Amino acid sequence: MGPSIDGRIVTTRWGSRNILSAEYERTAETFDADAWIIGRISMEPYAGKAKVPRRKAKLRIPREDFIAESDAESYAIAIDPSGKLTWKSNAIEGEHVITVISERVSDDYLAFLQSKGVSYLFGGRADIDLSKVLVKLRKHFGIRKLLLEGGGRINGSFLAADLIDELSVLIAPVADGSIGTPTLFDVEARRGPARNLRLISVVKLKGDVVWLRYKI
Ligand SMILES: NC(=O)c1ccc[n+]([C@@H]2O[C@H](COP(=O)([O-])OP(=O)(O)OC[C@H]3O[C@@H](n4cnc5c(N)ncnc54)[C@H](OP(=O)(O)O)[C@@H]3O)[C@@H](O)[C@H]2O)c1
Repeated sequence: MGPSIDGRIVTTRWGSRNILSAEYERTAETFDADAWIIGRISMEPYAGKAKVPRRKAKLRIPREDFIAESDAESYAIAIDPSGKLTWKSNAIEGEHVITVISERVSDDYLAFLQSKGVSYLFGGRADIDLSKVLVKLRKHFGIRKLLLEGGGRINGSFLAADLIDELSVLIAPVADGSIGTPTLFDVEARRGPARNLRLISVVKLKGDVVWLRYKI
């Protein structure tokens, strides 16, 4: 993640975005991960906009996981419980798309995902059970090392579920100060104690970016 010094993560008003994103990609690669996962809001710009057709035949589609490709080099994963992402393609820069949905999505939406060749996993009836999702990602796609790449709400829910092993943050040289914008971890109130961290390393990178790594 690339937060400002005050933990905010919406980079649109920051002047130093290009250096940050280059360092973000470079440091992410050092983890040699099998996949990355982001929340529905963060995925919107990458998913693009397509039309979800209305089907003429109204046969119900069973709520079973759909695996379009299971031997990809890497995977791009979204958490999209109500099926709002209208995928233009089933790949982001060559990485196969997997979307995690709930059982309440429409049959039209499931038919749309299948027609696009987007893999989908059911994460729960209405809510998403993140532990269950991780087990399925391992079982169906062999994903062992997963980069959790924001935004604040998906990060917060993984933190609250105690599913993060390590934290890697690039502190951007920005004091943002915008109250109410997403932060590194946004967790609903009273969902467990604050987590203590153990520092692994501190590295100064280009453009006054500081790379901090912690064990949780
Ligand atoms: N600086 C950085 O390093 C960095 C990195 C990534 C993102 N960002 C920024 O972060 C901002 C978005 O952050 P955000 O916190 O608003 O959104 P987000 O975490 O990207 O997406 C949140 C949405 O994802 C779904 N979701 C996530 N976790 C879920 C869970 N456990 N159970 C069910 N649904 C879940 C929900 O979708 P529904 O609303 O459809 O239910 C939720 O509203 C963007 O501006 C993005 O550019 C910054």
